[in-house]
Amino acid sequence: MHLKWNLALALLAVLCLQRGHGTKLDFNGVAGREMGLHLAAHLAPGTPPKVQETAAMAVISRVIGARSSQLFQVQVNKRIAIRSFQISMLDDGRILLVGWDGVSVCKAFHHYLKYVLNKDVDWFKVRIELPYNLKLPNVTIESTSASPIIYHQNVCTWSYSFAWWDFEQWRRHLDWMALMGISLTIAPIQEAIWVEVYTEMGLSREEIDAHLAGPAFQAWQRMGNIRGWAGPLKPEWRRLQLLLQQEILAAQRNLGMSVALPAFAGHVPRALKRLHPNSTFMEVQRWNQFPDRYCCGLFVEPTEPLFNQVAESFLSRVVSTYGSNHIFFCDPFNELEPPVAKPDYMRSTAAAIYESMRGIDPQAVWLLQGWMFVKNPFWTTDMAKAFLTAVPRGRILVLDLQSEQFPQYELTNSYFGQPFVWCMLHNFGGTLGMFGSAKLINSGIEAARRLPNSSMVGTGITPEGIGQNYVMYSFTLERGWSDSPLDLDSWFSHFPHTRYGVKDERLEQAWLLLKDSVYSFRGLQKMRGQYVVTRRPSFNQEPFTWYNASEVLDAWHLLLSARAIIPLEDDRYDMYEHDLVDITRQFLQINADQLYINLRSAYRKRQVPRFEYLSGKLLQLLDDMELILASGYNFLLGNWLEQAKRAALNDEDRRNFEFNARNQITAWGPDGQILDYACKQWSGLVRDYYAPRWSLFLEDVNVALHSQQPFNGTAFKQKVSQRIELPFSNKTDIYPLEPVGNTWLISQNIFETWKAYSKDTQFLHNNRLSVPRKFGPK
Ligand SMILES: *[C@@H]1O[C@H](CO)[C@@H](O)[C@H](O)[C@H]1NC(C)=O
Ligand SMILES: *[C@@H]1O[C@H](CO)[C@@H](O)[C@H](O)[C@H]1NC(C)=O
Ligand SMILES: *[C@@H]1O[C@H](CO)[C@@H](O)[C@H](O)[C@H]1NC(C)=O
Ligand SMILES: *[C@@H]1O[C@H](CO)[C@@H](O)[C@H](O)[C@H]1NC(C)=O
Ligand SMILES: *[C@@H]1O[C@H](CO)[C@@H](O)[C@H](O)[C@H]1NC(C)=O
Ligand SMILES: *[C@@H]1O[C@H](CO)[C@@H](O)[C@H](O)[C@H]1NC(C)=O
Repeated sequence: MHLKWNLALALLAVLCLQRGHGTKLDFNGVAGREMGLHLAAHLAPGTPPKVQETAAMAVISRVIGARSSQLFQVQVNKRIAIRSFQISMLDDGRILLVGWDGVSVCKAFHHYLKYVLNKDVDWFKVRIELPYNLKLPNVTIESTSASPIIYHQNVCTWSYSFAWWDFEQWRRHLDWMALMGISLTIAPIQEAIWVEVYTEMGLSREEIDAHLAGPAFQAWQRMGNIRGWAGPLKPEWRRLQLLLQQEILAAQRNLGMSVALPAFAGHVPRALKRLHPNSTFMEVQRWNQFPDRYCCGLFVEPTEPLFNQVAESFLSRVVSTYGSNHIFFCDPFNELEPPVAKPDYMRSTAAAIYESMRGIDPQAVWLLQGWMFVKNPFWTTDMAKAFLTAVPRGRILVLDLQSEQFPQYELTNSYFGQPFVWCMLHNFGGTLGMFGSAKLINSGIEAARRLPNSSMVGTGITPEGIGQNYVMYSFTLERGWSDSPLDLDSWFSHFPHTRYGVKDERLEQAWLLLKDSVYSFRGLQKMRGQYVVTRRPSFNQEPFTWYNASEVLDAWHLLLSARAIIPLEDDRYDMYEHDLVDITRQFLQINADQLYINLRSAYRKRQVPRFEYLSGKLLQLLDDMELILASGYNFLLGNWLEQAKRAALNDEDRRNFEFNARNQITAWGPDGQILDYACKQWSGLVRDYYAPRWSLFLEDVNVALHSQQPFNGTAFKQKVSQRIELPFSNKTDIYPLEPVGNTWLISQNIFETWKAYSKDTQFLHNNRLSVPRKFGPK
């Protein structure tokens, strides 16, 4: 069955290319939104309206069930404005959703759900139960997106969040993407294709195995940062991944989404040098101290004939395997320094890469993650200009990757006229912790659009990992659609209404407090989700908050007090419980930061009894954190590990996938190369990794205090690494897949316990967690 499916897709791909859905791109005198409209039309797959309607109807049916979905009728109409929708009532009382494409229809449906029926979805819950015999309100709404392109995903999301997903999980996420109006994304799975390319070139299986990384680390191997780590990949796995990618692509295109395919950036296995001794290769510089065995692959100069040979072999296979929407992504220099610092070199490199795409598809557009420009002194204005303008205007689309904090469009004069997408990079490594910059996003999108001669053509989200802070993603995507700033207060107070299914002042107040505290970040610190709990213990940490922790405590109290009014139907109580777990976790996280500062001062002042008292409190806090996390379905280590194991096809893979899953969230590399970068405040991990680590530390410091010796941090590092951090990757303990305990009761107990400590003088002792004034609230 899969084979037939494959053939059908390949055929469709060929047809699409031959018919050339892409219009000719001509950007003379065109800028900003208008440029985006051209580009959006150029990239849109030529899926027939009927197919898009069927796909949109299927989304609606999965969200509200087949029976309720009959209350809606959908229509894809290419004559209305690009990325627009219309909602109205038919004479028979059904709601008619008209959209420019399937995605716009789904966006219209989501708008009706959220703003007319006051019901919303999130990543974990896309299913909504409408009341029986619901009479749908009659509304007439027309809306056009101010963003012609709405983008989602980061190459890293595929490793941090999607690594183990099957199609069922994808289906939910794809439905969510459509509901949010997302129109452009990426399809990075490519290993099966590379094996064909390299085998044809004459590499042996061993040589290829030494190059490809394990499933949880593919993103960085694809970018050339590492090679071979946590591999190898079995042929059957590669094959299934390719089929999965095809299935995802088909579902996306059926809805009218465009998908960017991987192109060749120049990174190749070391062994290629054996076959091409006369070609020029550069050795890629070491990334994060990875040992030689797992790093420093080779880079073929894009101007070398060999580059074009590899590119052609790879890209033609990519297009015949996946079809094409005339957009290809590749990032030759992501966290890698270019070998030559000359504008001419940059110009010819960019031109050669673009030519390799054009050789396969004359209508090609190059999608580039603008990450390389961020805070990198290498990329002077001249270098960036040479690189970007080497490609005709409109033929390169830049993702301004973290526009809310480090916008690059200003520094590059709006990318010298090349179109760009304003993106929120909210998360690194899929770490947890309430965090966001609502106000900055609201104003930043405005500023970028109003820039004279702005070349901004869309908005997007580029999280390294998803699954936390849903509110920020929901906000950013709605803000991107809107052509003016949203009213933050009314947006945040409406949020709990649609989330918990009840309008209540306490809930509104709670979310307004969160808006003004955790979601009000506007600093320049690189927030990487590593707080005291999840960092390797030492006395060198400098925890801080950018908000007033009392506001989180107040918000928590308000949430707790609303328990009785949360409806049980439609699983709204589950969403409420999820948020209770999260805010409890957050308050404990803040308290751990606070405790740490006092522990450090007690150590420095050699106050032994105080140190012991506070040590006991920190360990108690970690126990409480474990307890609350264990009560939340979405906070379980077991889910991540079991998903990994389930994805395996045999015992050997099962062991290796579990290793991949464990190593990524802890040591991240053979010796802790980027230790805890992808840390997770999850039940199981707190109990068996973070708590033992802190316990060992406190014990060692205590011994030092009692023996009047200085604490030896170097010795501790070696010990904790050998005893706890590295062994964790090789363990095979099984963790629960189902939550334990009553969330509300646990949360209420923890609230009572920990709120009292905010008045405990031993605890505070004039060592409050600092709130740097310029980053403080408001
Ligand atoms: C819905 O409202 C519109 C505008 O008020 C009205 O013209 C139309 O007749 C209404 N349709 C139904 C079925 O009530
Ligand atoms: C490399 O160049 C040398 C000298 O020009 C030539 O003899 C040799 O055949 C070339 N090797 C390959 C693989 O092209
Ligand atoms: C905007 O573009 C116009 C026409 O190309 C040009 O005359 C003008 O100087 C540009 N303005 C800015 C601020 O770059
Ligand atoms: C922090 O918030 C609380 C109320 O939640 C308030 O009483 C207090 O004054 C605030 N502190 C600062 C420093 O703003
Ligand atoms: C700290 O421990 C390291 C590693 O065990 C050791 O080499 C070093 O001499 C110790 N330093 C002190 C000051 O004891
Ligand atoms: C984990 O297992 C691998 C082999 O599967 C081994 O090479 C490595 O040394 C082990 N690490 C630890 C810390 O035991």
